[in-house]
Amino acid sequence: MTRPAVMHVDLDALQHNFSRVRALAPNSKIIAMVKANAYGHGAVRVAQTLVEADAFGVACLSEAVELRRAGLQNRIILMSGFFEPDELQTISELGVEIVVHQFWQIDALRQVHIAAPIKVWLKINLGMNRLGFVLNDFGEAYTTLSDCKNIIFPINLMTHFAEANVYEKTITEWQIKKFYEITRHLPGEKSLANSAGILAFPEAHADWVRPGIMLYGASPFEDKMGYDHDLKPVMTLTSQLMAITQCKKGDRIGYGRIYQCEENMPVGVVAIGYGDGYPRHAKNGTPVLVNDTICPLVGCVSMDMITVDLRPCTPAKVGDFVVLWGNDLPIEYVAKAADTIPYELLCHVKRAEITS
Ligand SMILES: Cc1ncc(COP(=O)(O)O)c(C=O)c1O
Repeated sequence: MTRPAVMHVDLDALQHNFSRVRALAPNSKIIAMVKANAYGHGAVRVAQTLVEADAFGVACLSEAVELRRAGLQNRIILMSGFFEPDELQTISELGVEIVVHQFWQIDALRQVHIAAPIKVWLKINLGMNRLGFVLNDFGEAYTTLSDCKNIIFPINLMTHFAEANVYEKTITEWQIKKFYEITRHLPGEKSLANSAGILAFPEAHADWVRPGIMLYGASPFEDKMGYDHDLKPVMTLTSQLMAITQCKKGDRIGYGRIYQCEENMPVGVVAIGYGDGYPRHAKNGTPVLVNDTICPLVGCVSMDMITVDLRPCTPAKVGDFVVLWGNDLPIEYVAKAADTIPYELLCHVKRAEITS
């Protein structure tokens, strides 16, 4: 028997979620975020499914090259821009667009000799304090870039929300107001909204929206599920029971022996672990679905195995079907139990066989 850990990718669900974005932001173009291997789902497969996206957002040039090699002709935007001036040649040849967020990048663009000019998105830092020009520098960045022969005009403009996923709206509302105030008289197209912005701040939809997590069916909000927004999970991670141990009252389970059986009970071993991307820090009680019944995780997560309390679904047998997250078990529950966010869980899945 081959190892049964399998990642299923539901491309119909992906398309459904994309349609939700179109419905929520009907007047905006869509940059489908496929960075980090499309949040773990496989960038080429996702991009081929969302070929009607107006553009794809990737983190770096190698991700863009992968999409172009697969034959995708859509616009592609490097969300972190370029890391070395040497990349500009390939960026120009591939017709890829770049986010510019540092003065050294503007200098490099002004000095380079390239065959075709590059489309640029100038990023404004409005409180995220990660990438982008702060308000005091933005004017100089815009003016300097405007003098550059190597770019396609007009310069597009973007910002990123620091906490659109919380209900305390003050900061995001300020960011939106400020962004429009600064860019109102500038000719370029504008983009502000990630998934949370799309769902909670319609006034931020502007010319382009940039959905990531919602395309994959999870909610960006801590206290909501994907289904609350009519999103469907794209990734379902499944495996099987590979062993069952009849434990006695007082027995301890797994590394560190952190779980002690309170009575005689069957404990199932599931073929999934942190080597596959299942979170190492998932706590006792994290829901695992065995034969459609929630069976809590007990004991420590190992590299390629976890242990579950099988009392809720007795009798179970070796080979029985297990869902770690996805259909019928929202990833948001697992993320919460592991003190993390769905984004991280999705991105970490590896070594699983993929079926569409
Ligand atoms: C610049 C930018 N825009 C959009 C997104 C998509 O965010 P989300 O997955 O929350 O929709 C990301 C993701 O990190 C990003 O970095």
